Amino acid sequence: LTDKPNLPYTEAFLLELFRHSSFVPLSIPHCTTRDIVFEGYFIPKNTCVFVNQWQANHDRNLWKDPERFMPERFFMSDGQIDRVVGNNVLLFGMGKRRCAGEAIAHMEVFLFLAILLQHVHIEVQPGEAIDLIPSFGIIMKHKAPQIVLYSTEVKDFLRWKIAQERETDLRMKVDDKWGFWDAHSNQWGIRGKTF
Ligand code: HEM
Repeated sequence: LTDKPNLPYTEAFLLELFRHSSFVPLSIPHCTTRDIVFEGYFIPKNTCVFVNQWQANHDRNLWKDPERFMPERFFMSDGQIDRVVGNNVLLFGMGKRRCAGEAIAHMEVFLFLAILLQHVHIEVQPGEAIDLIPSFGIIMKHKAPQIVLYSTEVKDFLRWKIAQERETDLRMKVDDKWGFWDAHSNQWGIRGKTF
């Protein structure tokens, strides 16, 4: 974590991931305890209120081209993160009942991503188009795994293995031979073969 100030792009990437995916689209519901007028709207007592985080994160008055995934939107001219823009990302709720674990969640997610990026290659499944439309829910997820993770070392090994097979008669099949994690045998392999 001490390295975090040196990794502004990783942080910008995460902010953009939070904004773009808005994977907690609505906050937990709360109830008004009295009649109230908020921003010109009258809300009666005992009304269930949600914060529409997805809308705030895709508001055209706040974000240029909100549908585009663009970590650069968080950079100032000196390459550092613009905290004012960063604070406009809404994922942890707002007000008194906002997420109590926000600071720790930011650190955890940053660590997970940094460690993953250090140790694995992440690729789209060959031949598959990525579908970014999530399944709706309290926490939104993508419909099916569409990416493949390779450990850096295994990737190099697979490259070597595939290159080796190219020299044999397997050439026709080589292009659809990609490394994958075989969940049944718990080992790395290339399609049709584990090792
Ligand atoms: C990326 C990870 C996380 C996200 C997106 C997230 C998001 C949220 C959201 C949207 C709420 C509801 C806020 C509201 O009621 O308006 C919430 C509440 C809460 N979160 Fe998180 N959270 C995350 C991680 C964590 C972690 C790691 C902890 C604990 C260490 C935590 C503890 C809590 C608690 C205790 C509440 C209830 C706060 C209250 O009702 O007063 N969260 N979180």
